[in-house]
Amino acid sequence: MEDYQAEKPNVLQSPPLDITVPYDAAWVNHKVILITGGASGFGAGFVRQWTKHGATVVVGDVNVQKGDALCREINGASQSSGKAHFVHCDVTDWQSQVNLFKEAVKLSPHGGIDCVAANAGIAGNDVLQQGVNLDAAEPPPPDFKIMDVNLTGVLYTTHLACFWLPKNPGSSPCSIDAKPSASSPRDRHLLLLGSVASLGPITVQPQYCAAKHAVLGLFRTLRVTSGLQGIRVNLLCPYFIDTPIVTTGARFVLAGGALGKVEDVVDAGTRFVSDSRILGRALVVGPKVHVRQKESGEWELVTPGAPNSIETAVFEPYADDWEDQDQWNRTFVKLLNMVQAGRGWMGWAQDIVKATLYSFGVGR
Ligand SMILES: NC(=O)c1ccc[n+]([C@@H]2O[C@H](COP(=O)([O-])OP(=O)(O)OC[C@H]3O[C@@H](n4cnc5c(N)ncnc54)[C@H](O)[C@@H]3O)[C@@H](O)[C@H]2O)c1
Repeated sequence: MEDYQAEKPNVLQSPPLDITVPYDAAWVNHKVILITGGASGFGAGFVRQWTKHGATVVVGDVNVQKGDALCREINGASQSSGKAHFVHCDVTDWQSQVNLFKEAVKLSPHGGIDCVAANAGIAGNDVLQQGVNLDAAEPPPPDFKIMDVNLTGVLYTTHLACFWLPKNPGSSPCSIDAKPSASSPRDRHLLLLGSVASLGPITVQPQYCAAKHAVLGLFRTLRVTSGLQGIRVNLLCPYFIDTPIVTTGARFVLAGGALGKVEDVVDAGTRFVSDSRILGRALVVGPKVHVRQKESGEWELVTPGAPNSIETAVFEPYADDWEDQDQWNRTFVKLLNMVQAGRGWMGWAQDIVKATLYSFGVGR
């Protein structure tokens, strides 16, 4: 770990993940986890898995019926050693999210939150590019609900996580040298839900794609700065996975390909949540495949059992490109700082005079 940091001193993240190395799901024991959109799909899978391993999970969702039924089922099941609580929450409503976080702190056995999973999301008909009502005198106002839920909602969740995680009682700032164990549950972790739509275009879903690209931008920025508050941040980028968010239309379009499975997303998310040494990493989850990595780094599909192959649904995307990009950004900033230093106080004074004149309208 130390060598890695010495090699990449400007990147505040842990080394690339070796997903063939097992983690212990028991490390989620006694953690308190708040999840938005936990009533269905991945969310419900996470809630089941994390409570099974002893976590207290507070589920915020607009779907009261599903969320309430899930929590009742979990709390009544003998195999769950943890507890699930449902709180109605509309992530697009600031006060509703504030209420969710306050409730979570009240319900928490130790009075704090160890992990926040910003999972709520929607997809569907995207008004952009539909080309309807072109004869109207004035264009009708667009419906940006997908942006509201998938971006504004996530920003609210992130803002609240940055308020509550650093003051989680008994927690210390995140570190790649942390020693995860079932008996040391305290953490400060933000898990973001991106998508393969964070990494590339998804046809006919421009709003969804824009929101998920923004979540990637949020992740990349937070992973550099959230260390100041001791918060670790990780990102899941699932491919199309079989949950209710995948519309009937999308299922027709995807026919012949392979949808991924919720259990593999739950597995990747549980690795992040349980292993507190993982800082600033992203994982793509797709359908399970037998693959082998060539020397060039490219993956090839192989028959089961082929030499040096693994069976996996999880890949780390562009990890090294991002690190190099972050290094480049740092170098660029250094360059700009050198220009500033070269201009010295004289350059600063000239700019101040110009800015003052600008405020009086000179040079506009
Ligand atoms: N399934 C996929 O193919 C896929 C792929 C990539 C990313 N994702 C992302 O994973 C996350 C979970 O999606 P899923 O596949 O489990 O879908 P899902 O539809 O099964 O679950 C989404 C949950 O979010 C809740 N929700 C919607 N609007 C909300 C709001 N305003 N406030 C609170 N809760 C709200 C829903 O009620 C639902 O319980 C989403 O962010 C989605 O964009 C899904």
